[in-house]
Amino acid sequence: MSKLVITGGRRLEGTVRIGGRKNAAIAVLPAAVLATGPSVLENIPDIDDVRTYGEILRQMGADIHRGPEGLVVDPTGFAAVVPQQELVKRLRASYYLVGVLLARFGRAQVPLPGGDEIGLRPIDQHLKGLRALGAEVVIEGGCIRATASQLKGAPIYLDVVSVGATINIMLAASMARGTTVIENAAKESHIVDLANFLNAMGADVRGAGTDAIKIHGVDSLHGCTHAIIPDDIEAATYMIAAAATGGDVLVANVIPKHLDPITAKLREAGVDVQEDGDCLRVRATGRLRAVDIKTLPYPGFPTDAQPPMTTLLSLAAGTSLVTESIWEGRFKHVEELNQMGTAIRVEGRTAIIEGVERLSGAVVRAKDLRAGAALIIAGLAADGVTEVSEVEHVYRGYERIDEKLRGLGARVERVHA
Ligand code: EPZ
Repeated sequence: MSKLVITGGRRLEGTVRIGGRKNAAIAVLPAAVLATGPSVLENIPDIDDVRTYGEILRQMGADIHRGPEGLVVDPTGFAAVVPQQELVKRLRASYYLVGVLLARFGRAQVPLPGGDEIGLRPIDQHLKGLRALGAEVVIEGGCIRATASQLKGAPIYLDVVSVGATINIMLAASMARGTTVIENAAKESHIVDLANFLNAMGADVRGAGTDAIKIHGVDSLHGCTHAIIPDDIEAATYMIAAAATGGDVLVANVIPKHLDPITAKLREAGVDVQEDGDCLRVRATGRLRAVDIKTLPYPGFPTDAQPPMTTLLSLAAGTSLVTESIWEGRFKHVEELNQMGTAIRVEGRTAIIEGVERLSGAVVRAKDLRAGAALIIAGLAADGVTEVSEVEHVYRGYERIDEKLRGLGARVERVHA
């Protein structure tokens, strides 16, 4: 167990370099074992979820090591063994192994995944998609078991826009016989990144980034070199932290377009955001204004940036409404924030935020990854010392966050109990 000890009240200033996108990396990693030869993954983030996924794939026979150019994934020894439950439970994206194992071996047995407790997180759309491709899928004994003598392409309409189901179906369909069309597909930038990676391996995936993705199955895939896109949620977190501390930060190595919803809302609140190539400069002076936010699938405001944004708005003048329409359990940061002096109440799926002038340091707990990010930002902006416990959640998805924040002038230390 470890905690972050933050002495708040300092403006963040300087440059922070953003790493590769977590939710792209943990889709591309299992996709790499679809190939017959090694791939090199550049710009892989240095985060615990990537380490855990690497351990899972290694346990299943793949060789994974850091080379001079990036992470080398050699799937030569990868086999259809059951991944260790203890590892699978550490992250959500372990269910991509079902799509991968089905595509490569026609059978999969994968313990039900873990991940952040932010809602019920059903997987019915994954199962619907895999069944449409001809797989028999059951959940028994805490495992997803699937078999298919030959996956066959099919039209699949998703009843809800799901990032995970879109990815799982893309993985399985990449080597199915015939054509799959995913309608009402997720459009997130990491879906496009995965499609680019699959295509570089020899797959035929078109339309990623729109709500209809067409996949012509191919017989086999080969290794390739691919660079993971920058992490827009890590970038959003530093942009919001800069704004919350009245700072002046250059957020470097981003694709500004992916951050449009964040930039738009920060500007509405009175933050100055300037684009310069692959950098965004974020400056805040004076008190910010309240704004309303509703989380939506891409290109709407991302749910993963909602907790940090809630912290920021707790300091803005006026009343902000934040509506969380993706995850029913994603306001766990609110109870903790209120211990630091925020005035937020939650009614159903909406947080009603009465802006306060200052926050004060407290001992709080990171209950999930982005809730942790929200509390860290609150600690940076607060008077006095904040201790954020259970920050393991945060290191699942933010690379060296204490070090990066210190680079911006923050006083942050990670303390291991
Ligand atoms: C991915 O989760 C991300 N996780 C989440 O990132 C992110 O919050 C989410 O997408 C939305 O952008 C990974 O990529 C590993 P969904 P995922 O399937 O794929 C419902 C973070 O902080 N649904 O798009 O699990 C579901 O209940 C996190 O980095 C079904 O009803 O999300 C939700 O309301 C946490 N049936 C909505 O769809 C299904 O079969 C969107 O979920 C699947 C989902």
